[in-house]
Amino acid sequence: MAIKKMGLVFIATCFLGLIFEPGRAHGSTKSDLFMSHGSDLPVAQTPPLVGICESFVAVHGYPCKEFKVKTQDGYVLTLHRIPEGRVKGSGKIRQPVLLQHGILMDGMSWLLDSPDLSLGFVLADSGFDVWISNTRGTRWSRTHTSLDPINPAFWAWSWDELVEHDLPALFDFVHSQTGQKLDYVGHSLGTLMALASLSQGKLVDQLKSAALLSPIAYLSHMTTSIGQIAARSFIGEITIWFGLAEFNPIGEAVATFLKALCAYPGIDCYDLMSSFTGKNCCLNVSTIDLFLQYEPQSTSTKNLVHLAQTVRDGIIAKFDYGNSETNMKYYGQSKPPIYNMSSIPNDLPLFLSYGGQDALSDVRDVELLLDNLKFHDGDKLTVQYIKDFAHADFVMGGSAKKIVYDALIAFFNRW
Ligand SMILES: *[C@@H]1O[C@H](CO)[C@@H](O)[C@H](O)[C@H]1NC(C)=O
Ligand SMILES: *[C@@H]1O[C@H](CO)[C@@H](O)[C@H](O)[C@H]1NC(C)=O
Repeated sequence: MAIKKMGLVFIATCFLGLIFEPGRAHGSTKSDLFMSHGSDLPVAQTPPLVGICESFVAVHGYPCKEFKVKTQDGYVLTLHRIPEGRVKGSGKIRQPVLLQHGILMDGMSWLLDSPDLSLGFVLADSGFDVWISNTRGTRWSRTHTSLDPINPAFWAWSWDELVEHDLPALFDFVHSQTGQKLDYVGHSLGTLMALASLSQGKLVDQLKSAALLSPIAYLSHMTTSIGQIAARSFIGEITIWFGLAEFNPIGEAVATFLKALCAYPGIDCYDLMSSFTGKNCCLNVSTIDLFLQYEPQSTSTKNLVHLAQTVRDGIIAKFDYGNSETNMKYYGQSKPPIYNMSSIPNDLPLFLSYGGQDALSDVRDVELLLDNLKFHDGDKLTVQYIKDFAHADFVMGGSAKKIVYDALIAFFNRW
């Protein structure tokens, strides 16, 4: 029951940022992300603060190294590298692959199941040189050359900046370390980051092929009642985002908000988890347990507002400042520029895997994306549809190895 409830807290918070109460959502100023949230909701245990390499990789017999990568706008990101698998390599050059997690998660997402089932380990054991990203604001990437996370300016970014700064910095770094083009795997927001980048012609010369799991691009078909309530509340977004900073999903403000939401007519909190991600078919209780212990992770409220705009507007565009003057100031036009998915180079090998039960990456939204990719070279686009999978199954599902990762690895090896 405790697990179920915590899962609910996490999943609910995924999109609750969209409907945050103004004035309440001041950021947590503690670097410890595992504070209890002072309500009758269950309390996450505080895991010891050791690095991912020590506590999650080396213990399984894999080599692991940590790097710091500075973005052009001053964030210092932690990048983890698993250069080879449990069996020492032949010295043959290994293909680098960058793993980009989704929103409210971090690099741990790829390591939560047993080594035989988690993508980070599976790739290392399959001959890849694995690089694991941790997006700005998450546990291992909360440093900036001049800003502190206590400062709201630290949180003044949305996924536009992840496209503009985080991904290019990571690609440049891995490319310079390995001298090779990268393979890329994104989950959830990690897919939107890649799609938006590629639509602008970014990363293209450093990328060999990309795999997109539970792809997020269009978001307008999220039809759960939660999604609808969120959509109706978007009106106030401009007044709320400005003063807001960190969105800490296990902070007190979210817990308070969740209580209010659960009192909302028509919201069944017992079933909240399923109504957010869709019904995940294949999550192992021990994996969920680990997830709840180490995740979810902070993001910026502005990032959630930007996603909310994508839900509301049905287009994929840059952050909307809400009035033509401010948009003009930032973009030189009254509406935010669009990311045109049809501009993704047609000859770029793409692997796309989506689930029939996924409430965030709705089948109809994925079909819209696929329609934008209809001129993609046929042999360069591999699409996999998994009827039983929901959002979290792609990173944490016990059957993902057999159903998704094996196909993904075969795809990478083909190019
Ligand atoms: C869940 O994970 C544990 C530990 O890795 C494993 O022993 C067990 O077989 C898994 N259960 C299922 C249903 O996959
Ligand atoms: C998007 O790009 C495609 C192909 O380059 C083009 O045909 C289409 O008009 C563009 N759409 C928009 C809205 O700019």
